[in-house]
Amino acid sequence: MQPNRVALFRPTINPRDQRFGRGLKQERWWLNNDPIATAFYNAMSVTFPRGEAFFVESVRAFRDGAPPALQNEINAFIKQEVNHSREHIAFNNRAIDSGYHIATLEADVIEMLERTRGRPPIVDLAATMALEHFTAMLAHELLANPKHLAGGEMATRELWRWHALEEIEHKGVAYDTWLHATRNWSRSKRWRLKALLMLLVTRNFIRGRVLGILELLRQDGITGPRAWFGIAWYALGTPGMLRRMIPGWISYFMPGFHPWKHDDRALIKLNESDYAAAVMPKLSEAA
Ligand SMILES: [Fe+2]
Ligand SMILES: [Fe+2]
Repeated sequence: MQPNRVALFRPTINPRDQRFGRGLKQERWWLNNDPIATAFYNAMSVTFPRGEAFFVESVRAFRDGAPPALQNEINAFIKQEVNHSREHIAFNNRAIDSGYHIATLEADVIEMLERTRGRPPIVDLAATMALEHFTAMLAHELLANPKHLAGGEMATRELWRWHALEEIEHKGVAYDTWLHATRNWSRSKRWRLKALLMLLVTRNFIRGRVLGILELLRQDGITGPRAWFGIAWYALGTPGMLRRMIPGWISYFMPGFHPWKHDDRALIKLNESDYAAAVMPKLSEAA
């Protein structure tokens, strides 16, 4: 018996195999000519190729034996994440071409993933589920508040919106896989591991991204209080991405939580129509 499986809506997961910004000479500060905003997204993007490969492995480990509907969702989730990684590798290369050195940021991701070696697969799944909740909250913010990407380069904005749309679409997959994999666990055992991994992931996510942003800003000659206050204001003041994620973060610990209890259907629909209108003509022109 899978708790919640039947009761909640799930969208069709639709991998959109698209490419963004090929041949684009990316501005060093591509988002509003703002080094802090740019560093915020660049530092996240550096983590995606290896991070998403970890998500794929963690979920795929539980695919066999899952109900057919969930297996199909896992397969679509994998296709989406593989496409995201390919596009973020291209984006990261453009950031390198614009003058940034990202090797230290990559080394931190590698070291973090090395620490997961030998861990029980269910712990990796719980970490993936927590990180997928993080990405779904970020994605919701990106799509619900166009101001986050306002002033950014068009192709790069479309890359982030495409990624956000698909993250929302598949936001329940790791969670449903977890519900299936732990179907014989008690509620309290399930909650304890889920909550513990969310706390660890939160600490590591925030610490890792802040260090990454600081390093990129250092390369821009921005250090000390200017860098720290700039990051704090960007995350917690305006536009306040991290501050806006707090209610969603708390909901993760509540009894009966499921990503689709926050119904994003209208957001998907709205952004898919915007997205198609913005991207499709350009794709056909480029063809
Ligand atoms: Fe992704
Ligand atoms: Fe994802």
